[in-house]
Amino acid sequence: MLTWQDFPDAPASGHQICAVADIPRDGVLSLSLEGYPVLVVIDGATPKVFVNACPHQFLPLDQRSNSILSADGRRLMCSNHQAEFDIADGTGARGFGLGACLAVVPTHLQGEYLHVGAAIS
Ligand code: FES
Repeated sequence: MLTWQDFPDAPASGHQICAVADIPRDGVLSLSLEGYPVLVVIDGATPKVFVNACPHQFLPLDQRSNSILSADGRRLMCSNHQAEFDIADGTGARGFGLGACLAVVPTHLQGEYLHVGAAIS
């Protein structure tokens, strides 16, 4: 399975992603980090970031619709062919997602902002 660094234009550790306040509580924030597409979602109180590339055909999950969070807020649903992925860790949970996984982007908080990579201690 591909990791977040296997995709073109993967940002360097420390790259700012967004303000925590900008992450919707009932949806998904879709961003391009200088050409590197990510989805940001809140899992409980924890921000999660995934590469916006569905492992089925490597299309953006939100290519056909911006409404890609399940009603219970637990799964990302690809708008192309309805694969579903658990927001806890990106594991495929349904359809073409089974046996696959979204690439997780490691993050840390710095003040009110989410950044790429593990926290520097
Ligand atoms: S590209 Fe996502 S299910 Fe086909």
